[in-house]
Amino acid sequence: MSFKINDKVTWAGKIDWELRRFHGEEYSTHKGSSYNSYLIRDKKTILIDTVWKPFAKEFVDNLKKEIDLKEIDYIIANHSEPDHSGALPELLKEIPNVPIYCTKSGAKLLKGHYHEDWNFVEVKTGDALEIGENKLIFVEARMLHWPDSMFTYLTGENILFSNDAFGQHYASELMYNDYVDNAELYQEVIKYYANILTPFSTLVEKKIDEVLSLNLPVNMICPSHGIIWRDNPLQIVNKYLEYARNYQENQVTIIYDSMWNATRRMAEMIAEGIKSANSDIAIKIFNSSKSDKNDIITEVFKSKAILVGSSTINKGILSSTAGILEMIKGLSFKNKKAAAFGSYGWGGESVKIITEELNKAGLEVVNEGIRELWYPGDEEAQRCKTFGENFAKTL
Ligand code: FEO
Repeated sequence: MSFKINDKVTWAGKIDWELRRFHGEEYSTHKGSSYNSYLIRDKKTILIDTVWKPFAKEFVDNLKKEIDLKEIDYIIANHSEPDHSGALPELLKEIPNVPIYCTKSGAKLLKGHYHEDWNFVEVKTGDALEIGENKLIFVEARMLHWPDSMFTYLTGENILFSNDAFGQHYASELMYNDYVDNAELYQEVIKYYANILTPFSTLVEKKIDEVLSLNLPVNMICPSHGIIWRDNPLQIVNKYLEYARNYQENQVTIIYDSMWNATRRMAEMIAEGIKSANSDIAIKIFNSSKSDKNDIITEVFKSKAILVGSSTINKGILSSTAGILEMIKGLSFKNKKAAAFGSYGWGGESVKIITEELNKAGLEVVNEGIRELWYPGDEEAQRCKTFGENFAKTL
């Protein structure tokens, strides 16, 4: 399938409706995804990015229906990650000498993935490529989200090809932001930001300020995943600025795992306490062993505070708690309060361990947590409720 965006630009990617896991098993894609590749026809013919390897042959076959591959003058590799570069080996078997424009890091990374000595042309921010009536301008976007990432801007048509930035894992044949269900769309936008871009928020803000200061007109933003932003395209840029500036909603997320429901009971009583102290706050409770970890992270991203609980097991914490804490640590959330809780039978190390991990993650731990022996009875449940009330007062 290909799809004409306008007289000069054609979408030539792949919609992957079936995809349910991305980055190995690390990222859930409940609504599939797409790998967006774009063909630009001016006096020169340019291909921006390709697709993931399993679709390489289909991609090249489709491209051949659109053009004679020998007509491709330049390939732009905005990002070397295999979901966008995976079809390069298949394509370059047919046109081995075509120059590949990418950042210096992009050339290094592509060599690292494919061990091919392709015709790389390294570009920097501000470099321009004349393609006929219009030109392409490159903007390095280091660490958004890999060292090699860059944006490419097409003058005349005023299109920003932003690669992963502003993308979503969201399969849709509707292609444009004004055609799709915006609640669905923004759910995938925030999940993508929360799970992938959170650690780079300072750079996101700087890069957006830099691009906006160029005062380039933007008619469309064409990311490498999901739909194209054509209706008020700057809405997604402004949304990213909001996300990058320590975004939070009036929400507390409680994450727990529990062997015999004692820690679960604690979670629910803490939630009651928070609610009784502050009825406006949204409280969401997740069992980390039964919930999608990326959906939990999205809720953490939205929260002003989190509570993490686990039973004690083998002098430690349950594996799903350890897993979600590792993700929280890696994502470097800022400006969030936190505390730990957990039940135990003997030993009772879990609360201390969780507290240490929350500290290491850079969260503002507001107290030493609460632990209860065995299953909470009325007195213990009341203690958890009071703990919740006091926690709410710190927000
Ligand atoms: Fe969609 Fe970083 O690759």
